[in-house]
Amino acid sequence: MGTEQRVIAILGAGGALGGAISRQLAGESLAGLVLSDVNATSLDGTIGAVSDGVPLETTLADVSDFQQVEAVVARTVERFGRLDVLVSNAGVLSPNGRIHNLAAEDWERAFQVNVLGQVNAIRAAVPVMREQKSGSIILTASVAGLTAWPHAAPYCVTKAAVIHLAKVAAVEYARDGIRVNCVCPGTFLSGMHADLSPGAIDAIAAKHPLGLGSPSDLVGAYSYLASDASRWTTGSAIVVDGGYAAP
Ligand SMILES: NC(=O)c1ccc[n+]([C@@H]2O[C@H](COP(=O)([O-])OP(=O)(O)OC[C@H]3O[C@@H](n4cnc5c(N)ncnc54)[C@H](O)[C@@H]3O)[C@@H](O)[C@H]2O)c1
Repeated sequence: MGTEQRVIAILGAGGALGGAISRQLAGESLAGLVLSDVNATSLDGTIGAVSDGVPLETTLADVSDFQQVEAVVARTVERFGRLDVLVSNAGVLSPNGRIHNLAAEDWERAFQVNVLGQVNAIRAAVPVMREQKSGSIILTASVAGLTAWPHAAPYCVTKAAVIHLAKVAAVEYARDGIRVNCVCPGTFLSGMHADLSPGAIDAIAAKHPLGLGSPSDLVGAYSYLASDASRWTTGSAIVVDGGYAAP
């Protein structure tokens, strides 16, 4: 499959990183791009920033609901005839608090979106990609899944689960021609940090040897995993974090 014939769907296409990934992949001359998010305003922001000319389909979907994710994949196949790359990027931070102060609902919300959402993406994409005998599934994890952040247990634990989910799925589906990888970003400013004080942001920045990133620093990893250049890469957690996890 040449890069210009690829059909790509992105879940969680709104927001800072989703918008940047969408713009990057839209600029790569595709046969079709499907953008989806649970939040209409967030999705509209991305649609407005995607360059004209790419055949585009957009739809609202909550990744924690399998039927909604399945509907995104069905719409992709209906409109473009195939699905070559599925980017599963939706994610939510958990409330700030030590483990003994967090409620079950704090864990449930993080699991519903960060873990089940990515499982739903794999479940929905696999039947189509198995039939094609090819496909690339790209999950967004985090360096929070590799390092321990106090006061953020549900976020860290669910992102660690995403990294392992990518490995298990990679092994399960390699013989079907489906690759599954994840990207582990370090911190870049987004809506997730709206409640943080400048002092707290400076403290996070200080832990990144190359300083805070921006969404545009991440898109190369998604571009690589969405392309044939990554044809021998599966089960990988690609860390793009300005050196955060290096020490
Ligand atoms: N910002 C960071 O520093 C950072 C670092 C590492 C990983 N990440 C991960 O990057 C991804 C994007 O985050 P961001 O920083 O761009 O945040 P963001 O808040 O700007 O964007 C997140 C997007 O996900 C969407 N979303 C949330 N719940 C959803 C659901 N149930 N179904 C569908 N869409 C949903 C939101 O509407 C929003 O458009 C997340 O998975 C996040 O965990 C972010």
